[in-house]
Amino acid sequence: MSPDVRPLIAGNWKMNGTRQSLGEIKAMAEGVMGPLSDRVDALICPPATLLYVATALCTDSPLMVGAQDCHRNVSGPHTGDISAEMIADCFGTHVILGHSERRTDHGETDHIVRDKAAAAYQAELTAIICVGETEDERDSYSTLDVLRRQLRGSVPDGATADNTVIAYEPVWAIGSGVTPTAEDIDVAHSFMRSELVRRFGDEGRHMRLLYGGSVKPANAEKLMSIANVDGALVGGASLKADDFLAIYSVYEGLIAETL
Ligand code: PGA
Repeated sequence: MSPDVRPLIAGNWKMNGTRQSLGEIKAMAEGVMGPLSDRVDALICPPATLLYVATALCTDSPLMVGAQDCHRNVSGPHTGDISAEMIADCFGTHVILGHSERRTDHGETDHIVRDKAAAAYQAELTAIICVGETEDERDSYSTLDVLRRQLRGSVPDGATADNTVIAYEPVWAIGSGVTPTAEDIDVAHSFMRSELVRRFGDEGRHMRLLYGGSVKPANAEKLMSIANVDGALVGGASLKADDFLAIYSVYEGLIAETL
């Protein structure tokens, strides 16, 4: 946790979920209605097909709803894409950008991610910009170089603590059941914090830095208690409300410890 930074637990459903799964979102919306919502934010990013109906389910809940990608343009001949404006039109508040699966499957470069983040700001969405090294990059000790390059290339100059969240997701930890050591996460997050403070000053100090990659109820408390880890971006374990809420609830203990 970082002092004065409000944690965020964000779920990324990826290409999972049909109307049948809406019960999980309803259960999450109800599950985050307790007093912890004064201190911790919760967000779920279902596939775009469920976005509008998911936001309708969350109107009376602090659970926010976001999307998993947007185009860099507002509209135009881009078959299959959706724009940041369309997400905002569905009452989405956030958009995940530059996830490693998009960098790999769709050839998204830092430059494209930066343009998408700028489009998100235009539509008054918060961009969750993902960075992280591959296994080969980790093995060649270039993790911090990769993070520096991706942060410089993917985060627009207009980034603030309100409109930008950074998610550190080591590619090899995503969906693998393996996480870095607490010490490695500490090093990566402290490095990102110093890079962001150098570039954005006080805004960088307050920007939320999420950890993502195999976060589960069983390891969430340990991961969320690392310095400069201000929440999680959760894939597989966000598909079930019970798991998502168990991860969110670790802050009951962690916040009590800081009081
Ligand atoms: P995972 O995915 O929690 O299933 O590892 C995380 C992510 O890709 O955001």
